[in-house]
Amino acid sequence: MPQNIYDEPIFFEGYKNLRQADTGLNGALEMPALRELLPDLAGARILDLGCGFGDFARHARSIGANSVVALDVSQNMISEARKLTDDASIDYICHSIEGYRPSSEGFDLIVSSMALHYVEDYKAVVNIVYGSLTAGGKFIFSVEHPSCTANPIGWLRDEDGLPTNWPLDRYQDEGIRQTTWFVDDVLKYHRTTETYVSVLLNAGFRLDHFKEPKPTEQALTERPSLSINLRRPPVLLLGATKQT
Ligand SMILES: C[S@@+](CC[C@H](N)C(=O)[O-])C[C@H]1O[C@@H](n2cnc3c(N)ncnc32)[C@H](O)[C@@H]1O
Repeated sequence: MPQNIYDEPIFFEGYKNLRQADTGLNGALEMPALRELLPDLAGARILDLGCGFGDFARHARSIGANSVVALDVSQNMISEARKLTDDASIDYICHSIEGYRPSSEGFDLIVSSMALHYVEDYKAVVNIVYGSLTAGGKFIFSVEHPSCTANPIGWLRDEDGLPTNWPLDRYQDEGIRQTTWFVDDVLKYHRTTETYVSVLLNAGFRLDHFKEPKPTEQALTERPSLSINLRRPPVLLLGATKQT
């Protein structure tokens, strides 16, 4: 059973405020980098794993996708996504990524933004994804970077509170981590970059993209504090194709 921390009221309030004020890394860094990797979506059938408020689903439809199945384990996130969407070709489903078994019909693109580090069995998900794509279909996803999930204690700071360094530790010790984000005991799963890539290759994918996105120039100008993300990579972004 996944944790479903986005249905915890204090966490949800904090996360919603972060996204509404756009003070996180999504708009400044992760979303533009992921969208750059998208193939032509005209007519595409898409699955979004961990869709949150449905931003990607609406974007995909606005640039020509045929339909999007968007799933999330959090009822709060799905309810917000439904409120923000007026489109019968987006199907929001409240379901865990781990337990979801798509119909055999096939997707042309499966996307997941910043959700798979909450999933314990990454390999099982990759195999389901592979089986649910059409030949030549794409799997594009981002996760919290392994240099952040390995030892999630955040920046070490000097007596003035300025960040001195980001301690990397327990890198090869894959598995569960308890972290604090809005609330204590948020569970995430650490994997090495090697695991993220080799599981894709072993499933039969061809790796197309391996990215560690930086804040855009525009984002750095508007929010100079984002430059801290040049000191360690916050996000890992991968793109792969199901080989024919
Ligand atoms: C950081 S948010 C990202 C939301 C969205 N993809 C975006 O980029 O705006 C992570 C999302 O993954 C969902 N999530 C986490 N673990 C999940 C799981 N095991 N199954 C389905 N959804 C999950 C959360 O409920 C949350 O909405």
